[in-house]
Amino acid sequence: MKSRAVLEINLERIKQNAQILKNIKPQSFFCPILKADAYGHGVIPIAKTLWDIGVNQVGVLNAEEAYPILKAIPKINILIFDPLIPKEELNWIVKNNLTIVCSNWKDLENLSNLNKKTQIHLKFETGFSRLGFQLNSAKKFYEFFKKNPLLKLKGIGTHLVSGEDLGDKDSFSFLQLKKFLKLIKLFPKAKNHILNSPALVSQFAHCDSSNLGSRPGISLYGIKPKIFFQTKKAQKKWSQLNLQPVSCLKSHIVALQEIPKKTPVSYGARWKASKKSKIATVSLGYAEGFFRAQDHSKREVLFRGQRVPIVGTVCMNFFMIDLTNIKQKKPIRLGEEVIIFGSNKKALSVEEQATAINTIPYELFTSIGSKVKRVYI
Ligand SMILES: Cc1ncc(COP(=O)(O)O)c(C=O)c1O
Repeated sequence: MKSRAVLEINLERIKQNAQILKNIKPQSFFCPILKADAYGHGVIPIAKTLWDIGVNQVGVLNAEEAYPILKAIPKINILIFDPLIPKEELNWIVKNNLTIVCSNWKDLENLSNLNKKTQIHLKFETGFSRLGFQLNSAKKFYEFFKKNPLLKLKGIGTHLVSGEDLGDKDSFSFLQLKKFLKLIKLFPKAKNHILNSPALVSQFAHCDSSNLGSRPGISLYGIKPKIFFQTKKAQKKWSQLNLQPVSCLKSHIVALQEIPKKTPVSYGARWKASKKSKIATVSLGYAEGFFRAQDHSKREVLFRGQRVPIVGTVCMNFFMIDLTNIKQKKPIRLGEEVIIFGSNKKALSVEEQATAINTIPYELFTSIGSKVKRVYI
């Protein structure tokens, strides 16, 4: 059966991007984050691709996300970030030698009660106000680990509010970093990790030589942090890094009509043709993760190498495009390809498509529904 839409993913580029990211700090802890089905890209092929180039650890939310990865790659180390782990899951995690990134005393107590050899990381709160031990509790761990010798502290981490401004000494990220550097000194044998994608990539831009560890997520897919859009110098730095977009969301035309001037298109008749128009229906909608945005006027997709506007409200399984001004005059056929975002130079980037609906690439990627077939090239 032909898929209504396809997310095409270039695994060779995933490989290249991962290598580039790893090489920014080759000696440091490196743990790509594959939460939410590898940001919607399909966790098994992505994890296998990383494993093939020697990445031996990845991070996910919980046991449910870890399970398929462990089945496919039994030797990989998996870091679990979700707090308040239910007891059965905790047992499973420990039995399978996964690593809990512990952010609260409850999980830590439950772990110590298991009385089994377990490796853990501790996550500290340095300003994100989400998860993590308070910095002033750091000294308590000395006693705790003395009492619980089966729990082996392997790493400490924190999460940055932004990260892209890490090179700026007056930034909030830098303040977080300063707190974290103090913490590292209290746990000299533990590995450390703090850099998310924007921070890791900006470390490249600022040529920082520290041994900070990283947990990159979105940059694996070649997504450009906002800071690299801002100045020509930053754009140049970004191109030097050479991370490439890896994914392309495609669908196709399933209906075509010529409508007279003033004819409405889609729910609420919020768009009406200003002249006789050629309208095509594309088989993708909000049920498959293509958001129904209020302001459709700025939304575009690529058809025959030309950007064309989306018109009318996006429906559950369809949206419409205006092909009236298409330059190529050969007749339009049903089944012709429409590119929503992609690696093709003329196509909208994920960043552009996300901005058009007032969101971020993370949300766009993770919203692409399971009915959109993932195709690996
Ligand atoms: C704890 C943690 N570390 C790292 C990341 C990866 O962030 P990014 O995709 O910005 O690299 C995430 C993303 O959700 C996260 O929650």
